[in-house]
Order: sequence, then C-alpha cells, then structure tokens
Amino acid sequence: MSDDAGTRIEVALLRLVDLSAIDQLMPLILLADESPAAVADYLPRAEVYAMVTPRSADPVGVIALTDEGDGVWEIKNIAVMPAFQGLGIGGAAIATACALARQRGARRMLVGTANCALRELAFYQRAGFRFDHIVRAFFTPPRYPEPIVENGLRAIDMVVLSRDIT
Ligand SMILES: CC(C)(COP(=O)(O)OP(=O)(O)OC[C@H]1O[C@@H](n2cnc3c(N)ncnc32)[C@H](O)[C@@H]1OP(=O)(O)O)[C@@H](O)C(=O)NCCC(=O)NCCS
Repeated sequence: MSDDAGTRIEVALLRLVDLSAIDQLMPLILLADESPAAVADYLPRAEVYAMVTPRSADPVGVIALTDEGDGVWEIKNIAVMPAFQGLGIGGAAIATACALARQRGARRMLVGTANCALRELAFYQRAGFRFDHIVRAFFTPPRYPEPIVENGLRAIDMVVLSRDIT
C-alpha cells in the first residue's frame, strides 16, 4: 500500500476514454473481469471512464457503463489499481457514475458480480445497491472457460444488484 494508506479519497473524477485508446487500461479492465471474451462482448457498446484523482498523473481506475435501454444503465466493469484500493475511490466513482447516468435520463443502475465475490457484494450494498436477480451459470464455459475460485467458492452464478438513481 502507498504511504498515503489510511487517508480516504472521496473524489474520483471520471474522464471519458476513447475506445481506440483503451489498450493502456486493459490490465485494469481484466483485473475486474478475467475473461477477454466477456470483455470483448460489452466493451464496444460501453462508455469507458478512467478514474482520476489529484494524487496521480495517471488513471488509477476504470469504470465501464452501458445504456441497457428503458432508463436502465449497468456498471459492466469497475477496477481500481491495487495500490489505490480501499481509499474510497471505487465508492466515489460509483456515486459519480450514478449522477452522470441520472443526468442522461437513467432511473436505475445495475451491477453484476460473482456468487463468490463476498467483498464486492458488501462493497456494492454499501454503495446503495440491493440484490435484484441471479443469472444462473453465467461464469461457466464457454463464456468463462477457466474456473474462478474466491473465498473457497467457485464462481458459477452472477448476482445482479440494482440501485434506484432517480
Ligand atoms: C472492488 C473495487 C473496485 C473497490 O474499489 P475501492 O476503491 O477499493 O473501494 P472503496 O475504497 O471505495 O471501498 C472499499 C471497500 O471495497 C471492498 N473491496 C472489495 N475488494 C477490495 C479490495 N481488493 N481492496 C479493498 N477493498 C475492497 C471492501 O468491502 C472495502 O470496504 P472496507 O473499506 O469497509 O473494507 C476495488 O477494490 C477493485 O478494483 N478490486 C479488484 C477488481 C474487482 O474485483 N472489481 C469488481 C468486480 S465485480
């Protein structure tokens, strides 16, 4: 952890990234979603934002949003560089993303994560999301050819959470 550890950063500015310049953010994108095939599926229709803070000249995180129609947007990917995790940046980025989507007419934000992603399930609930529905067998082949294991659990189902952003 950096020597800034312990100091919360409550602000995360979001800077829209041109998809032609996405390569430098790809390691971060794959930190949150280790299936290149799944990423390739949503990235072309996503708005990708780099997270920027006053503490770093380079982006410290990434958040990818899609407009799913009918006033529903979705966080398809969110990742903060390991040295900057736990400082409040991810939470601040979600707040900024929800405000941005609301300005564009969204009423509800979705986010999905694996059944075994216990810290992320807590993180999203603290960010105002509630359990919405399950997409069974989402994290299985062919979409996810390699098994993912966290907290002693195999990733199988996707837990979709939603937050009212009106
Ligand atoms: C999940 C993630 C985006 C949260 O961003 P962040 O800037 O660390 O989040 P915040 O500092 O606002 O909030 C921290 C909370 O996130 C949760 N969290 C989840 N994974 C974490 C991690 N690897 N490190 C620190 N906190 C994590 C914790 O519940 C933590 O709560 P706590 O501070 O009460 O312990 C970030 O940790 C990350 O990039 N993780 C790896 C990629 C990933 O798993 N993305 C989500 C896929 S569904």
